[in-house]
Amino acid sequence: MPRRRRVTRAHLPSLELDPEQLRDMLDRSARRVIDHLLALPSMPLHGTAGSLKLAASLREPIPTEGRSFDALLSQLFGRILPASLNTASPGYLAYIPSGGLPHAAVADLITSAVNRYAGVWIAGPGLASIEALVVRWFCDLLPFPSPSGGVLTSGGSMANLTALVAARRALLPPHFLGGTLYTSDQAHHSVAKAALIAGFPPDNIRTIPSDDHFRMRVDILHTTLRQDMAAGKTPFLVVASAGTTNTGAIDPLPELAELCQQQGLWLHVDAAYGGFFLLTERGRAALRGIEQARSVTLDPHKGLFLPYGTGCLLVRDQEELRSAFRVTASYLPPEGAYDAADLSPELSREARGLRVWLPLKMHGVGPFQQQLDEKLDLARLAAERLRAIPHVELTAPPALSLLAFRLCPPGLDPPRLDALNQRWLSAVNASQRVFLSGTRAHDRFLLRLCVLSFRTHRDRIDEALDLLARSASDLLPTTA
Ligand SMILES: Cc1ncc(COP(=O)(O)O)c(C=O)c1O
Repeated sequence: MPRRRRVTRAHLPSLELDPEQLRDMLDRSARRVIDHLLALPSMPLHGTAGSLKLAASLREPIPTEGRSFDALLSQLFGRILPASLNTASPGYLAYIPSGGLPHAAVADLITSAVNRYAGVWIAGPGLASIEALVVRWFCDLLPFPSPSGGVLTSGGSMANLTALVAARRALLPPHFLGGTLYTSDQAHHSVAKAALIAGFPPDNIRTIPSDDHFRMRVDILHTTLRQDMAAGKTPFLVVASAGTTNTGAIDPLPELAELCQQQGLWLHVDAAYGGFFLLTERGRAALRGIEQARSVTLDPHKGLFLPYGTGCLLVRDQEELRSAFRVTASYLPPEGAYDAADLSPELSREARGLRVWLPLKMHGVGPFQQQLDEKLDLARLAAERLRAIPHVELTAPPALSLLAFRLCPPGLDPPRLDALNQRWLSAVNASQRVFLSGTRAHDRFLLRLCVLSFRTHRDRIDEALDLLARSASDLLPTTA
């Protein structure tokens, strides 16, 4: 008979770090991170050339031998991190920046080190209360009165998906394929993706054209709704954008709210980019009507400057979210005061509230308001300076802090105009001092400049505009 091996700890290698090792790892990491953040303003904006070679060099079988932490840190900070877009730089003006508050990184360290369970209330009522509190702060911002609520998600895409499923569960029968939803041709692609994931065929997603300022055409929405109802379809959801990713446009929220109210439709507002401008007076004016929505997506990892990984869905009636997502199981504890797992598709997850709570508790909301106000000023300044460059066409005055624009000299056909603007973008980004992104909207290639990082201030915006002006005059020497 084979002898059974005795289960003993004696020869088992420990995965626990002793206090000295842990302190050393934290000290080394802190030093690296602080040096990295200090060097950010002078670091290049992109280093992705040769990235396939880098990826190939990283490939290896699962290691059987350990390596020193210091060697791994060197690999990370020396080789891996530089091969990326520098999204934390003050010069990063592409897509939707935020910067990534280091306070939140410290909160994440604590969250992971203590590793409390945050899916259900009973496992950590203190941390669950912090998440519920943060959600309440955000509801108050809209404002959404009681019995509103919501949940922190991994980002805006997950928040949009969660909202869409909640609307489907609230308004459509279990066999829901007659249900149709409406959004504009400028909506973030996560809306269509959410509809597909939620089981709707592409035909059920109605794309409503936008006007000259890239806002949803409410008249066309109205006509489309009537036609769909006459054809036996069941419209149930309108997804409006409060700050589109392409050009920053805000859909006509009060008119959409009124129409949805009349027709008994769920209005979801995707305010992933624009929502936190509600902290400012100008933002509140621009976003008027958002409070009439039935659900709203916010992205703290955009407008609250957090590192990537935190979105938020708010709903006018928390019970609607709960009845869409609560599924019980015999091994789960009884219901608590705030069970995040009952409000979203996720069960096990990190305690997300801490990374929002910590910076807001440390600073109070004032500096966030002032930072966002500054971004609105900087976008207006950028618009003014862009208008002074010969042949620049802005799609619209900035609704918030995002501008879309192009060079449009006379005599060039659309493909040549697009090519000219692609060259303009490449020339500016080649500077490594700023990084802008491009997009296509209404069949034109546009440059976009989004001011949202807490690290971006007047000096870098002036530099960006100097670069744009200089490279425009290089590309169009006779007109500058
Ligand atoms: C308007 C809008 N909605 C949704 C999203 C998706 O958010 P996330 O990238 O956090 O999933 C974005 C992302 O940029 C966005 O700009």
